[in-house]
Amino acid sequence: MITTQLEDKILSICFDRSDKMNAITDAMYLAAEKALLDGSDNKEVRVVLFSGAGDHFTSGNDLAEFMSKPPSGNNPPVLKFLLALLRFPKPVVVAINGLAVGIGTTMLAHCDYVVAAQDARFKLPFVDLGACPEGGSSLLFPQLMGHSQAAELLMVADIFSSDKAAQVGLVNKVVAADEVQAHAQKIAKKLSLKAPGAMIKAKALLKQSYAADLEVRMVEEIISFGEMLKSAEAKEALSAFMEKRAPDFSSF
Ligand code: COA
Repeated sequence: MITTQLEDKILSICFDRSDKMNAITDAMYLAAEKALLDGSDNKEVRVVLFSGAGDHFTSGNDLAEFMSKPPSGNNPPVLKFLLALLRFPKPVVVAINGLAVGIGTTMLAHCDYVVAAQDARFKLPFVDLGACPEGGSSLLFPQLMGHSQAAELLMVADIFSSDKAAQVGLVNKVVAADEVQAHAQKIAKKLSLKAPGAMIKAKALLKQSYAADLEVRMVEEIISFGEMLKSAEAKEALSAFMEKRAPDFSSF
């Protein structure tokens, strides 16, 4: 589930499903979207702070739901969440501990300040799942880090460290694991005390040159993603995960 808390003008949104490493379901996307939309309209909210419950940020989209109900159409719950995040007008801070997989990494490129534990790990396994990049990463990552780094993260798709995430521009600050929450709170507090109108204008201007193109790309990505999840390649990848074995793509 998603838990939210509003305190001192900071709206905390937590992926809270620790028995599944905070894997995100459609219901969780819709709850997070609602929290963002409500927070957008609420003057008492000046900053959003994302985190994950327990030892991890999130293991990404729930793979059981990918099998039973892959994203369909041009506005599935995952896209509703991503668009609400992209359009959220106020600062967004993220605290990362443990694993940040899939959308747990791509969503960072839409946020404004990311704090990660020194031992946090990141992974973008879309191609390994028989699917394609999502969350605007096919457009944003090459812009942010250049093609070669984006290809390494999205095509080689090995797990990578916080230092690497900082080097490619996905993470602002790497700190000791037990300092992540405190550091993220400190930044959120600092942002919450600044002039709110000026903050909203600054963020809008920072995103102005690419936000419209990004929305178009995010829709294209999710339509392809949903269609690809119905393919034999994806069925093999998802079955392999459920059966706790390595996938075999040799016959495709
Ligand atoms: N969706 C659904 N369940 C998930 C999940 C996900 N994305 N990630 C982890 N889980 C579940 C596992 O099925 C397992 O449940 P179980 O105890 O009922 O069997 C539990 O969380 C722990 O995961 P496990 O795989 O045993 O832990 P691990 O430390 O060996 O591996 C990961 C951790 C994250 C590397 C591995 O779970 C993984 O690859 N998950 C899928 C990540 C993914 O592809 N996400 C989608 C991106 S688009």
